[in-house]
Amino acid sequence: MFGGASSTRISSWLMQPLVLCVFVMTVARGQVRYSVPEEMTKGSLVGNIVQDLGLDVKRLKSGRARIFTEDSREYIGLNVDKGTLLVKERIDREELCAQVSPCSLHFQIILENPMELHRIDVEILDINDHAPVFMKKEIAFQISESALSGARYSIDSANDPDVGLNSIQTYKLTPSDHFTVKIPAHLDDTKYVEMILQKPLDRETGEEHKMILTAFDGGNPQKTGTIKINVIVLDANDNAPVFSHSIYKASIPENFPKGSSVLRVSATDKDVGSNGDVTYSFSQSSERLSILFQIDSSSGDIIVNGQLDFEKSKKYELYVEATDKGGLSDTSKVHIEITDINDNAPIISVISFSNPVAESSAPSTVIAMLNVKDLDSGKNGIVRCYIAQNLPFKIKSSSPNFYKHYTLVTDRRLDREVIDEYTVVVTATDSGSPPLSSQKTFAVRLSDVNDNAPVFSQNSYSVDVAENNAPGTPIATVLALDPDVGDNARLSYSILPTTIHGSPISSYVYINPDNGNIFTMRSLDYEQMNTFKIEVQVRDAGAPPQTSNITVHVFVVDQNDNPPVILYPTYSEDAGLQLTVPHGAPVGHRVNKLVAVDPDSGHNAWLFYSIAPGDDSSLFHIEPHTGELRTTQKLMDDEQGGKTHPAYNFIVVVRDNGQPALSTSVSVTVTIEEKSPDKSTDFRITPHKGTGVTDVTLYLIISLGCVTLVSLLTMTVLLVRCIRHKGGSTCCYSRTGFRSRPSYQQRAHKDLHLQLNTDGPIRYMEVVGGIYFFYLNYPKHLNGSVSRFPQKYQAALFSILIIIKNVS
Ligand SMILES: *[C@@H]1O[C@H](CO)[C@@H](O)[C@H](O)[C@H]1NC(C)=O
Repeated sequence: MFGGASSTRISSWLMQPLVLCVFVMTVARGQVRYSVPEEMTKGSLVGNIVQDLGLDVKRLKSGRARIFTEDSREYIGLNVDKGTLLVKERIDREELCAQVSPCSLHFQIILENPMELHRIDVEILDINDHAPVFMKKEIAFQISESALSGARYSIDSANDPDVGLNSIQTYKLTPSDHFTVKIPAHLDDTKYVEMILQKPLDRETGEEHKMILTAFDGGNPQKTGTIKINVIVLDANDNAPVFSHSIYKASIPENFPKGSSVLRVSATDKDVGSNGDVTYSFSQSSERLSILFQIDSSSGDIIVNGQLDFEKSKKYELYVEATDKGGLSDTSKVHIEITDINDNAPIISVISFSNPVAESSAPSTVIAMLNVKDLDSGKNGIVRCYIAQNLPFKIKSSSPNFYKHYTLVTDRRLDREVIDEYTVVVTATDSGSPPLSSQKTFAVRLSDVNDNAPVFSQNSYSVDVAENNAPGTPIATVLALDPDVGDNARLSYSILPTTIHGSPISSYVYINPDNGNIFTMRSLDYEQMNTFKIEVQVRDAGAPPQTSNITVHVFVVDQNDNPPVILYPTYSEDAGLQLTVPHGAPVGHRVNKLVAVDPDSGHNAWLFYSIAPGDDSSLFHIEPHTGELRTTQKLMDDEQGGKTHPAYNFIVVVRDNGQPALSTSVSVTVTIEEKSPDKSTDFRITPHKGTGVTDVTLYLIISLGCVTLVSLLTMTVLLVRCIRHKGGSTCCYSRTGFRSRPSYQQRAHKDLHLQLNTDGPIRYMEVVGGIYFFYLNYPKHLNGSVSRFPQKYQAALFSILIIIKNVS
């Protein structure tokens, strides 16, 4: 049939879209079909009805051919002159037919004369003049990440007014890693396309997926329409919190302040919102430690809540949990190591302390035993014990353990008499920084040992005692001191038994044992004994006792208790002294020489001779010092008023120089001898001075020279010693000794001096005494020991003494 042929042609035309000319289809009389694409320009040829209907142009004119249409609008016009159908108005297939296909315009060409009616169908062919269009530019979905694969999400489908191939043919989704689009079976009438979840979403890897859905039509050229699809992935609590570390470690000092954070644990949850909110807590097993530690549930700070003590626990192990709102959790360990702080001072405990300590204790005697410990560890617990350097003690460590054992021992010999009590401060210092120390004070008292002999306050004592003293007179006091204490210093004095002139010393002196006062037992007589020694011993009451000896030199001081005694010439008490002078003895004739002695010494023995005033006293003169009696006038027996044997009487007084002076007087009777030629020669021969006296004086001078020489020698020796000990104490001491003992020197010099002035017999005892004391005291003051004085000097001195003695 015709229709079938035409449809075939249309199909073939469609296959050649560039051909825009009108295809004319020959139809049966009365009906012609044309196909024309929409949107042809006005005036485009639709068909030639002259040809197709077999009509003549003339007929058209005569028949007044025209188009009749039922539509209000005439899209196609008729060119009567040419017999062609032309596009009169813009034809929009979509406007005309919408989705109806095929879309045709139906009209009739009416001819008059005769009336002819030709039906014309103009099929409007669709051209792809529309692209697919989505209603919205963009569409958003919120899809939970927990959505399962296969979940469908519908999207309003695109719209393309074109039909057929020009309408939407397919959809495409890009990218398509999670979703695909399901193309519906009937694209024409579908309202939706479905987006299907192919692969589960993970908010944690992609929170948002942006895709583009493109709708394609089948036109040529192909047109597309797009819509943006934004998939927001909603979180599901699909992630448990995860701690950043499986184990947390911290090291804090034991004095870590309360309330401070040790460390912060942190767990992350990939989920968001409440699913990602993590709270921290200690796990059950760590509850008991909550006294010491707390955890901030929101920040994860682990906070010190109590007092840490390294000495109690060196480390703590806590288990922490992080939980999200969904109940998912993670656990982690927290190791907190406590480091030692030097917060413990060493502790000194005294195990034993022996007090007092005998001063005689040997070095290394243990006084105290101590334990020293320090609760800290490491360096903080290493303790050093010490005491002050200047003490005679030391501290000894006996074990290298943590608990140190120390002993306080004596380091050297002790002497209570120097220091009787020590304050020993034992300091224990640890090695921390800053170091801590503690101290223990020991008052170490020393107990006395009788290690000191009593010491006399002077090196020797010398006392002067006037003779004729009353028995019981205190003459001296010795004093000794003992640096020890108690019985060791309780002193008693005694006199060592010696003899004086054959009688025990106890008959001479007596000592008070308690205070050292020495009393005489008898009256002393200088003339019998001018010096003696008392050996005094002092003894303490220690066990065993200690003693010291000292010599008390007693010098008996002469008193003028003896009157001079006239020794020569001898006379009787009754007759007095009978002397004679030769007749005519010239003036100055030496009648005689009186020799008197005085048992006293010194001034008391210094005698003055004088003649007491009387009748005949003017005729004679006596030398006051020598006792030489001479005449002052020529004595004649015949000149005296007829006296045949005249006698002259006067009194010679011998007076000593004592205070008060004692004197002896003798009545002298001088008679004139009768003239005798034998005797007259005597006057001339009689020398002025006695030869005996001259000899004695010579010897005396020699002996004094010797003494002086020896003294000089001694002085030289001493001087040499002094120089050797240049600046030494020996010299100084000796000088002091000299000064404090002037009496010996004076005594020596006094004795020598007196010797020079004595006209009487030589008083060798005085020389002996003087030199002896000089010798005895001289070196003793120097060295405190007689033995230092060389033996040879002693010998020399004694030989001089012997010489002097022999001379006398
Ligand atoms: C004191 O003298 C006595 C008797 O001579 C003697 O036994 C004693 O040892 C002397 N003591 C001292 C300390 O010299």
